[in-house]
Amino acid sequence: MSDWQNQVYCEDALAGLARIPDGSVDLILTDPPYNLGKDYGNTSDQQTVEEYLRWTEQWIDAALPKLKPNGSLYIFLTWRFSPEIFVMLKKRMTMMNEIIWDRRVPSMGGSVRSYSSVHDTVGFFVGRKDYYFDLDAVRIPYDAETKKARSRSIFIGAKWLEVGYNPKDVWSVSRLHREHSERVDHPTQKPLEIIERMVKASCPPDGVVLDLFMGSGTTALAARRCGRRFVGFELNPDYCAVIAERLAALDVALEAERVIAAEAGKPPAKKTAVPKPAAKKPAAGKAAAKPSAAKPAKPKRSRSPKKAPPEEVTI
Ligand SMILES: C[S@@+](CC[C@H](N)C(=O)[O-])C[C@H]1O[C@@H](n2cnc3c(N)ncnc32)[C@H](O)[C@@H]1O
Repeated sequence: MSDWQNQVYCEDALAGLARIPDGSVDLILTDPPYNLGKDYGNTSDQQTVEEYLRWTEQWIDAALPKLKPNGSLYIFLTWRFSPEIFVMLKKRMTMMNEIIWDRRVPSMGGSVRSYSSVHDTVGFFVGRKDYYFDLDAVRIPYDAETKKARSRSIFIGAKWLEVGYNPKDVWSVSRLHREHSERVDHPTQKPLEIIERMVKASCPPDGVVLDLFMGSGTTALAARRCGRRFVGFELNPDYCAVIAERLAALDVALEAERVIAAEAGKPPAKKTAVPKPAAKKPAAGKAAAKPSAAKPAKPKRSRSPKKAPPEEVTI
């Protein structure tokens, strides 16, 4: 395996992309800063509109050559800049879907001069017609009610009823609240359920997923849980420590499952329980904390960009 694979580098994605050979990645799955003024311990989400769009075009042009010709790209955005960024991408790729992630925000409070925004906008783009796409891997089983409603003899044994349905382009999955066991200390952590669906559909088994903006490392975890490889970058060293701990906890959970399955004489289950790293504060400024049984510390929210030495987070 090449040494850049299964690594999250604690460095600027634009510089780090040089590590990855052109045409070597099956899927770019990325969740960049939305430029809504969030504090990730750097100024990436607090740029002027002109700076933000210029920077976005820059990283898109640096990242796309890394894709294999039949590769795909998913990008998380919101309505604020998805129109401009989708146009940029449509000049370079073919747009297949706009997926709406309905974050299932409960009905309370919200805007009084406009409608409350409760969704993220995800663009799904491909390089050419024979792009990899495995719908069967992400079909949703029909529930008992649906099956009952289709119990007439003409439907019995119908393949579509047995294999489940296409997830469609509105995905209703709750955002991660504090009480979710999956939740770690990152302000915009995405649910594994969503990222895993994209990985399974658009990256072949053992393929490579690239995420330029790893945050808490959800893409890396999803890739590993689905038997794919990953590579990516994260600027904030405290988040890099969170990623290292999440991956270490996942490896412990996978190993435990493997041992239990071996003892029972069965192959390990395809999916493991979501590991929850326990609490321990990573040393300040240390990018690749040693895996521990502790909960990731709350990343610092300083406004000044932190310069971390390029450092690998994990194997
Ligand atoms: C929207 S968050 C990603 C959240 C992630 N999907 C998750 O589930 O945790 C964007 C991340 O990009 C990081 N970032 C911003 N600019 C960056 C850059 N130039 N290179 C690498 N990472 C960067 C931020 O620190 C932030 O953690």
